[in-house]
Amino acid sequence: MDIANTPASPDTTATLADAPPEPKDPPVIRREDYKPFPWTIAKTRLDFELGLEKTRITSKLSVAPNEQAETSDSILLNGDGIEPLAISVDGEAVNDWTMQEGNLVLPLSQAAHELEIVTQIDPSANSQLMGLFASNGMLCTQCEAEGFRRITFFPDRPDVLSTYTIRMSGPKDKFPVLLCNGNNTDSGENADGTHWAEWHDPWPKPSYLFALVAGQLVANSDTFTTMSGREVELNIWVREADLSRTDHAVESLKKSMKWDEEVFGREYDLDLYNIVAVSDFNMGAMENKGLNVFNTKYVLADPETATDGDFDAVEGVIAHEYFHNWSGNRVTCRDWFQLSLKEGFTVLRDQLFSQDMQGEAVKRIEDVRILRAAQFPEDSGPLAHPIRPDSYREISNFYTATVYNKGAEVIRMMRTMAGEERFRQGTDLYFDRHDGEAATCEDFVTAIEDGASLDLEKFRQWYRQAGTPKVSVSLDHEDDTALLTLKQTVPATPGQPDKQPMPIPLRLALFDRESGKHDGEELVVLDEAESTLAFSGFAKPPVLSINRGFSAPVSIDREVSGEDLVFLAAHDDDPFARYEATQDLAVRHLVAAASGDGLSEEARGLGRADILKAFSSTLADTSLDDSMRGELLSLPGQTYLAEQIEQADPGRIQDEREGLKTWLGQQLERELVSLHERATEVPFGFSQEARGSRKVKTAALIYLAASNPELASKLAAAQYEAADNMTDRQGALAVLSGLGTAARTDKLIDYHRRYKGNELVIDKWFAIQASSLHPSVLEHVKALADHPDFTIKNPNRVRSLYMAFAASPHAFHAVDGEGYRMIADLILALDPINPQTAARFVSPLGRWRRIEEGRSAMMREQLERIVAAPNLSRDTAEQVTRSLG
Ligand code: TRP
Ligand code: ZN
Repeated sequence: MDIANTPASPDTTATLADAPPEPKDPPVIRREDYKPFPWTIAKTRLDFELGLEKTRITSKLSVAPNEQAETSDSILLNGDGIEPLAISVDGEAVNDWTMQEGNLVLPLSQAAHELEIVTQIDPSANSQLMGLFASNGMLCTQCEAEGFRRITFFPDRPDVLSTYTIRMSGPKDKFPVLLCNGNNTDSGENADGTHWAEWHDPWPKPSYLFALVAGQLVANSDTFTTMSGREVELNIWVREADLSRTDHAVESLKKSMKWDEEVFGREYDLDLYNIVAVSDFNMGAMENKGLNVFNTKYVLADPETATDGDFDAVEGVIAHEYFHNWSGNRVTCRDWFQLSLKEGFTVLRDQLFSQDMQGEAVKRIEDVRILRAAQFPEDSGPLAHPIRPDSYREISNFYTATVYNKGAEVIRMMRTMAGEERFRQGTDLYFDRHDGEAATCEDFVTAIEDGASLDLEKFRQWYRQAGTPKVSVSLDHEDDTALLTLKQTVPATPGQPDKQPMPIPLRLALFDRESGKHDGEELVVLDEAESTLAFSGFAKPPVLSINRGFSAPVSIDREVSGEDLVFLAAHDDDPFARYEATQDLAVRHLVAAASGDGLSEEARGLGRADILKAFSSTLADTSLDDSMRGELLSLPGQTYLAEQIEQADPGRIQDEREGLKTWLGQQLERELVSLHERATEVPFGFSQEARGSRKVKTAALIYLAASNPELASKLAAAQYEAADNMTDRQGALAVLSGLGTAARTDKLIDYHRRYKGNELVIDKWFAIQASSLHPSVLEHVKALADHPDFTIKNPNRVRSLYMAFAASPHAFHAVDGEGYRMIADLILALDPINPQTAARFVSPLGRWRRIEEGRSAMMREQLERIVAAPNLSRDTAEQVTRSLG
């Protein structure tokens, strides 16, 4: 609908909910079509008159022709669900503007101009949580990727950098705290009970980094002195009741600032760093310049209400957003196809930080587990895309595990090939060369190439090609030589039927069987389809340890005996490889058992016996710390197992995996009970030892729950009762929630009563029940959806109930298709409220091609039901169409 020359009446409030329905087939945006914007916006001045239901924005833009672009006789300013109430150019009201698909088009002569545009919005009606929205009585923005256009008309693209000066005013009782990017330059009060503040951000930035917050907030404040001696004021803003849970966030921020100076040479560049926590948020957090906005989940933590995992997640996300100040803000993205430029790099940076804070081995294992559970399935499914996509319809759909996590792995490979020192020279050059610019992935690769002296010509394929490469490995032995043959294939993905070989850096070691030692690790870069390497000096066939440290994000397909894997599980000095050997034993066994004709009793016995050997040595090895022991005791996840099978039967995978747990629990009952006892003796603390003991405590219960439910129920109930921290309490409750014992109901009721009113803990209460192994989980989830504490408006609550459910195979994949129907119902109900969050639920259904026929048809049916719905959002429509594709 084009509205030409409609003089909008000044008292119209364009509610965001009134936006016209999206066309069924939204246009495709292509990377190759990039063109610079014809205008520059040197200065942006915004005046916000704030109100929960009515906020008026007056925008003044200093516009001039962009010498670097083709000229244009008009300017297109993006808008989404807003209308201009008044427009003037150089002080003169104009009315020769038009609207094109929500955007404002204004004729403009080739000269510098001052534009002034007034808009008005209703933040309380903004349920999408993009643009300016209300959350618990406070006002808050989220502009990445394309939310700024829901506030005011602007070239809402990351390559238009502007210097922002903001004035904001509003009722002082409702909004005592007024925050924006940069520095607070002035403030004052008016006689009518309103007050105002002015903010100036000296660093030019794209609109997606704009942020504004107004509300009743209190701060946990501190200072940090940077390497050049600048004192920075730090504030973590929260609701008063949450203040006592912010110390960990403050500490995490200071550690991040210090680490980035030491490891990447990056210093903070403003005198103020504000973080605000909000309860209603689509994602984890947002790196707005000098004013990060966080989901409360990644700010608040104390031992009573947060698990060790929550503490680590807060530390990791605080670091992530802080690191964006350089990798994202000082150097930003030219267009959204370059998203991995900032996200892949920043994820790598936060992973390296967390490795330094928490221990390298365990953090690496966790990151690989996330990659395999979230990114591998993406890469092998209908939504597969390169880390630098070629096209999209809705950019929000491309904030994916591929862009983030695989993107980080790709840069990690460059670091592995260059070595730490040369990699640092590469990143120094990148920051130096592109500071203040909107850059591309190609710019990044070139800077690493130049700075680290690496030839990355072929390596660029990692940015172009989707799909997880498979490396087939075989090891032969002749005389005193070991011959290693490596073959790579990159699978076909949607739109990419043929693939080129890519350079794959593989760290490897060859162990002598007798001594259990090797003569040093090698780095081999496989950059052809196939290559054979000879290693001499081995009188007997060595044991191969390959892709150590998970040096490349590939899947390894190798012929290896159970005996060799048991050897590596006990002897490998690379902790990841040791973990991997144990995992491999379980993966092979479970995949064989759950696919095709299953296993003969003999093969089943042999497979189990090897796993038992590995588990026994894990339990007995006194040189291991408990954090690592906990990792080694975890079985491969069901999604990862399903991934290994062409057409998986989730029910069988579940049965086999549970069966293995039961058997291991029976075989190792004595050891597991004594591990639980030993760990229970360790008093609460944040040391590695104490954290490790909490991890193995619950790990032991998980096996016992499968083998001896009565005993496990008793131990778990006792652990729950005695708990002086959330890790123990939640671990025990999660185990209990899968059991049919009386303690289950007791403790679930107790937990709810104990933590009533604490949103984040109640989220856990929903998630624990939705992901439990209990046979009635479907009924439980249906009942929970009607619970007074459930609301579809809050993304954390929706995710805690339904993401946990969709990730729980025995519930989601219920044989009668009820799980699929529930997720489809949710998508349809949520789409009109919050399309970004709704679209995230499509991918579990999108796996239909890889699931056995009966279920597959029912999954497809639900996707077809969704796509047939009227007025589907661009977000959901794109994901469903691609999934059916
Ligand atoms: N850039 C943010 C990050 O990775 C994430 C983000 C992108 C986001 N879009 C968002 C957060 C929308 C909330 C809402 O750190
Ligand atoms: Zn990020």
